[in-house]
Amino acid sequence: VRIGVGRAHGKAILFGEHAVVYGAPAISLPVHVLPVIANATITTGESTISSELYRGPAATAPERLSPVVAAIDAGLDFVAPGSSAHVTIYSDIPYERGLGSSAAVAAAIVSAIADAAGVRLSPAERFLLIQIAERVAHGRPSGMDAHGVVADTVIKFQRPDVTPLIVARPLHVVIGDSGVPGATRQAVGSVRELREKFPAKVEALVARLAGYAADAEMQLATGDWASMGENMWLAHATLAQLGVSSPELDTMVNAAHGAGALGAKMTGGGIGGCVIALAENSAHAKDIAAALSAAGAANAWSTWVEASK
Ligand code: MEV
Repeated sequence: VRIGVGRAHGKAILFGEHAVVYGAPAISLPVHVLPVIANATITTGESTISSELYRGPAATAPERLSPVVAAIDAGLDFVAPGSSAHVTIYSDIPYERGLGSSAAVAAAIVSAIADAAGVRLSPAERFLLIQIAERVAHGRPSGMDAHGVVADTVIKFQRPDVTPLIVARPLHVVIGDSGVPGATRQAVGSVRELREKFPAKVEALVARLAGYAADAEMQLATGDWASMGENMWLAHATLAQLGVSSPELDTMVNAAHGAGALGAKMTGGGIGGCVIALAENSAHAKDIAAALSAAGAANAWSTWVEASK
């Protein structure tokens, strides 16, 4: 029996969450300190899942694992139709915090199943399979997460294109988890409702968010963290105007400001979930992480992206 292995990691959106749903560019970075690994073997009996949340037949998995079951079914349908799989999942990404947990788990599962079947998925095939699970998890995902959780570096996503971006010097960030589950589906739905009621206002806010993402492409390429950080504060205020921040997220953004962060904003769908703060270097990132914890963060991770070669 061949044991297939699949890997992915968390992602954090630097700019463009929500706006990306309406065709604006978004920029995400890999969070390598939050990995996901899946193992799979192809079988003929019933499919089973082994994870921290649940261990047992896929058919009787709890409702919150329906994206996992969808990923298993999509992977099998594509590489081994009519077969079943035993899938084991190890994930360090907290659930429902806007860090791409559902997409990363789906990515690891479909890759592990393909590997177990001796099939190499193309990036496009893998993307389409992840999106099947993401639709179960979030309704109408833009595709940002499905790309972000497998990208090795900072990427720009503007439907349907993905572009790796040049990063001039190491990018040190801190992710602070409010500990409050985010609700991407509801957040995306509430922005859509606001847009129906106040189209001109929401389009102006989306355009502003698109502008910050566009600016970031050059700021990353030149290492202009000061300007990029300024735009992060502004992006947070803009997202708050869209109604997707929360008191906990605002508190953490203020704490990052107090700790001298170059910029900070909520990241991902919002309402709950996480903030991302930009640090000068790894020592500064540790200070910011401590400040976020003191301000009530359930968790704070320092991570970085290497400069492009
Ligand atoms: C979620 O990580 C990002 C959102 O823009 C939703 C999406 O892109 O599908 C809020």
